[in-house]
Formats: sequence, structure tokens, C-alpha cells
Amino acid sequence: MADADVQEQVRARYAAAAAAVSATERDALAVVDADQCCTPSTAAEANASCCGGGGAVDAAFGSALYSAGERGELPVEAVAASLGCGNPMAVAELRAGERVLDLGSGGGIDVLLSARRVGDTGFAYGVDMTEEMLALARTNAAEAGARNVEFRAGTIENIPLPDAAVDVVICNCVINLSTDKPAVLAEMFRVLTPGGRVGVSDVVAADHLTVADRAERGSYVGCIAGALTRAEYLDGLPGAGFVDAEVVFTHEAAPGMHGAIVRATKPAAGCCPPAEEQACCQPEGKAACCGTGQHPVGECGCR
Ligand SMILES: C[S@@+](CC[C@H](N)C(=O)[O-])C[C@H]1O[C@@H](n2cnc3c(N)ncnc32)[C@H](O)[C@@H]1O
Repeated sequence: MADADVQEQVRARYAAAAAAVSATERDALAVVDADQCCTPSTAAEANASCCGGGGAVDAAFGSALYSAGERGELPVEAVAASLGCGNPMAVAELRAGERVLDLGSGGGIDVLLSARRVGDTGFAYGVDMTEEMLALARTNAAEAGARNVEFRAGTIENIPLPDAAVDVVICNCVINLSTDKPAVLAEMFRVLTPGGRVGVSDVVAADHLTVADRAERGSYVGCIAGALTRAEYLDGLPGAGFVDAEVVFTHEAAPGMHGAIVRATKPAAGCCPPAEEQACCQPEGKAACCGTGQHPVGECGCR
């Protein structure tokens, strides 16, 4: 299937999930995996029976991954729309005054929680390609009384923000849905300020699983088939310019498929592109590229 068709399938499925939450307060998770299971008519039925393709998968997604306190901070619809596979609040360690971007913000749960963490002097953006999700998120933000938030229409492969616009990029279970993951990693790097950080939750495959193995374990729209392996993440992040990349498995979503925390940092000084970093930190390159500070090789002024 062509990438554009896959992306349209993803958009349509999440549009249906948003519509279901808005109209009936059904749990969005029920709709996303409707192809693989039944189509329950209430949130309670959905949670109790069939969605996510089975018990282990059910427990790996959605609002159960947040504390009762976090769920209590938000409108019921924002919680019901939760479709993530982790809790970026636990990953990103947000501080007052920071600017945060949530990629694939869905019904807005992580944007609204971020907005509270960064306070009035900070700001939280959400980007999503699905109009129905954006509408749901904006309604949830109004209901929550959040003033330091904005939801923008766009794709995570072409983020509608200028360079160096945010201090932190978070994302909850969306990178696996992208048909162009290198573009997403490059865009995360572009919109981060130097020294900014990534705190992502995603489904990540064990390194031994082939593309076919991953597809056997779940659907693309259900966040399984499109997952990167741990090694692919750890190659891709430095390739995009990040340093200190790490992928930590937290819980199993399907055999060999894990809910995971992904962290990385954009180098602070930004005096040289990553490919040149090694060379420019040699003594003869320092004056041209790394400034005048006396930094030993490996701890150069580039970082
Ligand atoms: C699995 S849901 C996660 C939503 C939210 N992060 C959460 O935790 O509830 C995926 C969301 O990402 C959006 N999405 C998927 N692919 C996208 C892309 N390439 N660009 C922008 N948004 C995308 C979908 O519209 C949907 O709202």
C-alpha cells in the first residue's frame, strides 16, 4: 500500500475515534481496534471485553497509564480520548516556563497536563493531522480552562512551527504511525532549541523482530505493525543530530513489542553539525568551529 494510503487509513481511524468520544463518550481505544475485535457500544464494555486485540494489549494503552491524580485534573472526554502507550509526563520532567510540543496530540491529554506543569510562563502546543481530533482537543482545552495551549493542524513529518520554537518535544504513541520516521526525527531536531530534549512514549520492537514479525503481532493503525526496533531508534536519533539517545522498555504490548520510553537531547551550543563534531574538536579545528574555549577532545565546545 502506498504511504499516502496508509496515512489516510490512520487519519480515518483516528477521526472515527474522536467522533465516538465526542458523540457518545465511548472510550477511543474501542474504535481504534474495532477491526480486530467487536464494536462495543459503551466505554465500560469496550474496556472489559475486546479492544486492543486482547487483555495484554488493553493494559498497554490508554488512560490507565496515568495516575488517578493526573486523570482527575482533566475533563472526562480528554481522558476517554487517551490513546497513548505511556505517560510522557513521567518522561519529560517538565519545568515552569518551558515551551512544549506534543506530536500527534489527539484529544489533548498530554498537552493539557503539560500546560499545567509549565504554568502561565510556559506554553504547550499540540500538532495533529486529524481535524476531528483537533476539534475534540480544543473543546477539552476550553473545558479545562487552559489558556497557555494551542492545537495546530499539520503532520509530524512537516511540523507547523518555526526552527528552535520549543524546549521539549513529547509524543505519545504516534511515531510508530508515521510512514516517514526519518522525517519525524529531523523535524523534532529542527523545532527544538539547542539544548532541548525529547521525551517520547512509543511502541518499540525487540531487535530480532522483522517487519513481517511486527505485522503479525498487530495492525498498523493499532500502533504495532509500524513500530521501530530499539536499534532503529538508536541509529535514527544520532543520525538526526541528537545525543544521549536511550530507549527503555517499560511494559510488553504484544510478544516482543514493548511500550517504551525514548529520550534524546539536541546538542546545546550548536556550533557545528553532528557530522563535523569529531573533526572540529581536534585542536586544529577548534578556532574555526568550536570557539575559543579550551575543551578536551570528546568534551568539546560543540556540545
Ligand atoms: C495513537 S493516537 C495518540 C493520541 C495522543 N498522543 C494520546 O496519547 O492520546 C495517534 C494520534 O496521532 C495522530 N497522527 C497519526 N499520524 C500522524 C501524523 N503523521 N501527523 C500528525 N498526526 C498524526 C492521529 O490523528 C491521532 O490523533
